[in-house]
Amino acid sequence: MYQPNLFAGKVVLVSGGGSGIGKAIAKQYLQLGATVYIASRKLEKLENALKELSPIGDCRVLELNIRDVESIQVAAKQIKEQSGRLDILVNNAGGQFPSAAVLIAPKGWNAVIETNLTGTWLMSQTFAMEFFMPQKDGIIVNIIANIVRGFPGMAHTGAARAGVENLTKTLAVEWAPYHIRINAIAPGIILSTGLDQYPPELLKGIEAKIPMKRLGGTEEVGHLALFLSSPLSNYITGQTMYIDGGQSLWGDVWEIPDFEPKDRI
Ligand code: ADE
Repeated sequence: MYQPNLFAGKVVLVSGGGSGIGKAIAKQYLQLGATVYIASRKLEKLENALKELSPIGDCRVLELNIRDVESIQVAAKQIKEQSGRLDILVNNAGGQFPSAAVLIAPKGWNAVIETNLTGTWLMSQTFAMEFFMPQKDGIIVNIIANIVRGFPGMAHTGAARAGVENLTKTLAVEWAPYHIRINAIAPGIILSTGLDQYPPELLKGIEAKIPMKRLGGTEEVGHLALFLSSPLSNYITGQTMYIDGGQSLWGDVWEIPDFEPKDRI
């Protein structure tokens, strides 16, 4: 649907690119001619993805911990040595676990905030300083979540993703003079390996509760990432686009989780 060479000559980094939505995004950039670095903490995951993606285009792996600024700086150096530039950063890596808010212990809370909010920030700041600001050109796409009505059942990630949405707005304004555009994608329930972390009973019959009566596809999220990082969206910055089959506008997909406050208090 897009021109086959739309991203020819572009260098893209997708965090969490070894599986799920991140891998689907990486695949689409490769199909349109980009050099794509997929990053993850887990080398084995990256190597499996590489087997699938390298026949499509120039795909490379980066072992990277988004919570650790030194690890990010090492990755930036590697990209500089290998490709000399970076054009597009997709902050897709993240993680959370379902829990009633009252049962989340400080360690779990901090881990989710550090990965989803601080990790996205450290990646954005480092790659902006190393590449986008000196180049006076760059694009960041942040993958968040449907947080329109809070995130009952996952308060930690709701708070972190709301933080990223706000950061997206701030950076869009502060970095506009450097011709850096920053937008966010808020996927609803997408059929991907990301759903494996949730108990099957939480997902049973969920399609019926979404206005479009189906889950989203990873390739549909990919199409939006392509749009937000292509010249087709050149005047769009600081925005969050929902891709959720209407879920954020109507209906409750799951019950408020049961919990026993006395367990925690
Ligand atoms: N995916 C989930 N957590 C991550 C982390 N800390 N670094 C890179 N990828 C991740």
